[in-house]
Amino acid sequence: MQLAETFAKMDAFLERSLLRPDPVLEAIAENSEKAGLVPHAVTPLQAEFLAFLIRLSGAKRVLEIGCLGGYSAVAMARALPEGGYLMTTEIDTRTASVAQANIDESGFGHCIDLQIGPAMEALERAHDAGAVFDFVFIDADKVNHKNYLEKTLQMARPGTLIVADNIVRGGDVLDAESGENSVLGVREMFAFAETLEGVEMTALQTVGAKGYDGMALFRVSK
Ligand code: DHB
Ligand code: MG
Repeated sequence: MQLAETFAKMDAFLERSLLRPDPVLEAIAENSEKAGLVPHAVTPLQAEFLAFLIRLSGAKRVLEIGCLGGYSAVAMARALPEGGYLMTTEIDTRTASVAQANIDESGFGHCIDLQIGPAMEALERAHDAGAVFDFVFIDADKVNHKNYLEKTLQMARPGTLIVADNIVRGGDVLDAESGENSVLGVREMFAFAETLEGVEMTALQTVGAKGYDGMALFRVSK
């Protein structure tokens, strides 16, 4: 059996064993596919991993950069304590309208603020308004991975947890000669990470239904 096939089958096995039927997220996945959105949402197990981190850390103010159809936004919003909220960003207006419909249908519209437009502009506005976040999921255009991490660190407090998606990209990130913008953006993020102080950092390489990729984790310690 091809490794990619094993990864996908194992993902399905773990999903069946560990997760319960989830009509809310299943409806979002279905609507997003029907609307023709790119299949780049996190997997169900990854969505639960993000929700886990939010519950574990007690995060109340969550920022997502890159909403797509709202799958991870809703998964994370459900993990929030009473009074918690999540801001998310989507650059594409048509994608944002699919996401907003999904969010409204999920019943979590009251705590999700979808900002339509370039993520960096939404981040600047939030920063200017004095926003602070406890948990951040960076999952937009990978070209700006470093810029998003840098801006996010300006809106962090000691203990803020930041997760950056797609940091392996099938191993393409190893290629120092790559001309691919997303690879360059992720490599730029890692070069920036080398300069950081007062931030605990680690990474998880992942395999599964979405192939070989990974997430970097940052925790601000001071
Ligand atoms: C891509 C983007 C993602 O956020 C992801 O999780 C997987 C792939 C992409 O742009 O290829
Ligand atoms: Mg992603």
